Amino acid sequence: MRLRDKHGRFITDLRVSITDRCNYRCVYCRTGNDGAIYSELPIADYQRIVRVFVQLGIEKVRITGGEPLLRKGVVEFVRELSKLRTLEGEPLDLAITTNGHLLAGLAQPLKEAGLRRVTVSMDAVDPVKFAKITRVSNGFDNVLAGIRAARRAGLDPVKVNCVLLRGFNEDQIVEFARFSREEGVVVRFIEFMPLEEDRVWSPVVVVAMDEILEALNSFRPVRQLANSLSETARRYTFDDGLGEIGIIAPVSHPFCGHCSRIRLTSDGKIRTCLFSLFDHDLAARLNAGASDTELAGYIHSVVDKKEARHHIGEPGFEKPSRSMVHIGG
Ligand code: 5AD
Ligand code: SF4
Repeated sequence: MRLRDKHGRFITDLRVSITDRCNYRCVYCRTGNDGAIYSELPIADYQRIVRVFVQLGIEKVRITGGEPLLRKGVVEFVRELSKLRTLEGEPLDLAITTNGHLLAGLAQPLKEAGLRRVTVSMDAVDPVKFAKITRVSNGFDNVLAGIRAARRAGLDPVKVNCVLLRGFNEDQIVEFARFSREEGVVVRFIEFMPLEEDRVWSPVVVVAMDEILEALNSFRPVRQLANSLSETARRYTFDDGLGEIGIIAPVSHPFCGHCSRIRLTSDGKIRTCLFSLFDHDLAARLNAGASDTELAGYIHSVVDKKEARHHIGEPGFEKPSRSMVHIGG
């Protein structure tokens, strides 16, 4: 039976975090000092879990982290997932979200293993700002090389995610518009959400959709493109049709009403929402010897508890129990 929550939403999009380690320490995600304890499942367990989810109607699988390319066996994992078929008999829509640091060497092997597309997080086209946000000094050139290698390998589309933070990179909007046009990538601006380990979020730090559009229009007039209902990004191009920009506005324009997503953390817990206050321990059941049918039953019971929406910005908002690096984008 297909996964459907009690708000009527079909769940078709699974995000699997395969590690909570990361080689960057982005200010909007991790703390600067690394006192974290990491935990991962064997790759074979993720494989089994994804297989069970696909039997329940999942069509889109995104591999995330932490930084997923740090995980040994990621190419093999992609190869195994590419063999799965949806309930309609189609291959999965397989994607990875990466910080791009190790992508230059892995883009071609990943493509050959069956990866369709990739999203690279890159928050500035200015190397100095990039270093300030990621808190590593040598990343920018690697990421740029990774993006170019991904395009050469035929991963399509290559998307670049930029989380905008006032005081760090709001002046990069126009630079990224140029970048999209010159590099042939889709650039997506994401409103900063309160999911970071350090408590730096405040409404003032969020660069909201209207402001992004205003900056883009000051560069060249933008034109909106059609998008599908479950898509989180509003899509735009410029008057001459060159370049593509997405705006993901979970704070100013929430899209919870047509959310089709569910997440598995690197330690095998299900999260029904980025902002959930609880996880659901699937790995514990797997380790206790549950059958696929039992796992499927448990997944159904968890999906039934999926939250209607987030409450960012409302009085009484509670920070979720885990930050992004542990959940996986
Ligand atoms: N707010 C918005 N986006 C975030 N990401 C990580 N933390 C946050 C946050 N607090 C983004 C990353 C990556 C994707 C997985 O989520 O930049 O592109
Ligand atoms: Fe690493 Fe991504 Fe978090 Fe940056 S946002 S520290 S790249 S997991």
